[in-house]
Amino acid sequence: MKQSLAGISWKAFSGMEVKDKAAYLAEDGVFHVLLAQQFDRARLENLGMLATCVRRIAKKEEGMTFLRSLLANRRAMLYFSQPSSRTFLSFCAACQILGLQIGEVRDTSTSSEFKGESQEDSVRTFSSYFDLIVMRSQIGGLAERMAWQLSNTERPVPIINAGSGKDQHPTQALLDVYTLQRSFERQGGVDGKTILFVGDLARGRTVRSLAWLLTNYRDMQLLFVAPPELQIGGDILALLDRAKVRYELSGDFESAIPRADAIYMTRIQDEWDTAGESQKIDTSKFWFMSRHLALLKPHAVILHPFPRRQEIAVDVDDDPRAVYWRQMRNGMWIRAALIAAIFRKDADILSLAERFV
Ligand code: NCD
Repeated sequence: MKQSLAGISWKAFSGMEVKDKAAYLAEDGVFHVLLAQQFDRARLENLGMLATCVRRIAKKEEGMTFLRSLLANRRAMLYFSQPSSRTFLSFCAACQILGLQIGEVRDTSTSSEFKGESQEDSVRTFSSYFDLIVMRSQIGGLAERMAWQLSNTERPVPIINAGSGKDQHPTQALLDVYTLQRSFERQGGVDGKTILFVGDLARGRTVRSLAWLLTNYRDMQLLFVAPPELQIGGDILALLDRAKVRYELSGDFESAIPRADAIYMTRIQDEWDTAGESQKIDTSKFWFMSRHLALLKPHAVILHPFPRRQEIAVDVDDDPRAVYWRQMRNGMWIRAALIAAIFRKDADILSLAERFV
């Protein structure tokens, strides 16, 4: 089937507003996964349900055997030219759950890029051998460009954006929302919740993608707490304005804690520094210490995309409201669900899940 991106020039597609790009991509159902804006509420809920079915089926050996047979005839390429532990490994594990074989390039000094090959040619090469490409790059928008390119070749394999520049990290946002859905299952769901974002909000792509996904819920309140240099970008605020989502910006972490239903902590993203400028910023007032647990609502949860540095004290881990380790494992299930949906295996999983209740 011809994909929507095959019918448009790169100039026209790349010049579109994000919401128009997302609408364009949505025409293909779940195929290229490039932007958080591709996911509306129905998609988020279906994907969460699918992930829960996968994890339920995987509890039994018979279920694991079934899951492994689903995509045993497919191969996935993990092309990560930026460092990664969780995203890379959870995609590996998700592929293994569904039976996909994996190839990887994690260090471009070992690939032909080192000999001057363009990323376009590298990705096209991967598409000759693999049926899915998961890619992380420091270049914002590269996954979009590659998806457009492949859609206009004989082998239009799907691309999943596993983090692009400072801009987007849609699958991290999916696992974050899945974690919120599960955490608030007995508190009326995600609607009406106050989510507090803390840390490097200017350069954290996970925050940007998640803030957008939360616009799919009703009566949300987003609090962005950071030193002035690291506050959230005006482009995200404009999106929130347009979606009529209430938000506040502040520099006072302690007084925001008691208001939060969920706290999303982030680390300082100093890999983007040009001259060590992060070192001049005092972030210590934005660290979650064990004394802050007393200020937190009884049903609130603490999330973090990880890796962490000092921004969450290790002794906070033992509190049941610290859900970041669970959040990490949710990433494997939601990524398995996403890959299953891309290859249209969702109905098989849903119909089998009933046997595993
Ligand atoms: C994040 C990333 O790389 O964007 N991590 C992740 O994917 N879990 C955030 C980070 O590195 O701080």
